Amino acid sequence: MTYKQVIITRHGGREVLQLIDAELPEPKPDEVRVKVIATGVAFTDILIREGLYPGVPKPPFSPGYEIVGVVDKIGSQVSNLKLQQRVVALTIVGGYSQYLCLPATELIPIPETVDAEEAVCLVLQYVTAYQMLHRIARVKPGERILIHGAAGGVGTALLELGKRADLEMYGTASQGKHELIYGLGGIPIDYKREDFVQKIRTLTHDGVDVVFDAIGSNHLIQSYKTLSRGGRLISYGFSSALKQKYARILGIAYSFLLLSLLKLLPDGRKAEFYSIASLKQSHPQWFREDLTKLLEMLARQEIKPIISDRLPLSEAVYAHELIDTSAIKGQLVLMCN
Ligand SMILES: NC(=O)c1ccc[n+]([C@@H]2O[C@H](COP(=O)([O-])OP(=O)(O)OC[C@H]3O[C@@H](n4cnc5c(N)ncnc54)[C@H](OP(=O)(O)O)[C@@H]3O)[C@@H](O)[C@H]2O)c1
Repeated sequence: MTYKQVIITRHGGREVLQLIDAELPEPKPDEVRVKVIATGVAFTDILIREGLYPGVPKPPFSPGYEIVGVVDKIGSQVSNLKLQQRVVALTIVGGYSQYLCLPATELIPIPETVDAEEAVCLVLQYVTAYQMLHRIARVKPGERILIHGAAGGVGTALLELGKRADLEMYGTASQGKHELIYGLGGIPIDYKREDFVQKIRTLTHDGVDVVFDAIGSNHLIQSYKTLSRGGRLISYGFSSALKQKYARILGIAYSFLLLSLLKLLPDGRKAEFYSIASLKQSHPQWFREDLTKLLEMLARQEIKPIISDRLPLSEAVYAHELIDTSAIKGQLVLMCN
């Protein structure tokens, strides 16, 4: 039997994505075969497609950082999961696929009442937002935060979780996305028309307690300038590197160098880097605890991921176009079956 899968044939633009048929895989003794319901499409997939993300296989391979699906076949040594049970997983790659075999230990069951597509949004974007807020920045009620790319997947998750944590929130975004930011409790800043450092000074006088920056490069210095004494810069991505036609890897190395220098400054402010994959490796229990907590919040309807579009797997190229052109508000989901 065959199934559909989207693969990256080589690193590059959207043209490297290809829909293929593959042979249905059999789970190993410690694995489970999952029939994928949906996978998230996020900016990180663009970095992976372009060859700017470390630790992933060489092409050809299927991208897809997070999945939700049903247990379709169980390996001989697996006893903690049932057929037809709905599960989520942080796959990093492989999600743009109708079927996928994964180690049973990587799967987390989801509550019966939650919407599968909303659940998949929690795995990458909401866990990232939650861990940056509560594990890394350790925010306290009343603190001020600045979120760059506030209308995107991670940005909207930060706004929603930040509101629940009683934070005062500012978010950079292009003008057309400001209503969304107001709606989520943030104060928008049009970074294309205004100097956000100056604007934060005007709005807050002494700056913010935490700034979340996934832009990288010299933008980190600007973000650092928005901090009050005791403030924390959380760097978690380098989207600016994509804009550099040449020496993109150098752009990422430069961002890390800047971050190391900012860390050395003896001015009472802090700078840190966050990576969901690294934190999951060093603290696997945190990932499970945090995702389980978020799934429970979703079941109690305390959070509601903003899904901009649900597209069929065959529309993966269009999905990447939407992300490439910043046309998304919230999160984008590919329906796989
Ligand atoms: N370290 C980790 O573990 C981790 C985990 C998840 C994601 N990430 C990173 O987080 C970043 C965001 O991911 P995402 O999936 O949320 O992306 P997304 O949904 O595509 O949202 C990003 C948004 O940022 C806005 N933007 C672009 N340039 C900007 C700038 N200079 N200043 C302010 N906003 C800007 C764009 O919207 P407008 O310009 O229209 O406002 C864009 O839509 C990516 O770099 C991703 O790699 C890191």
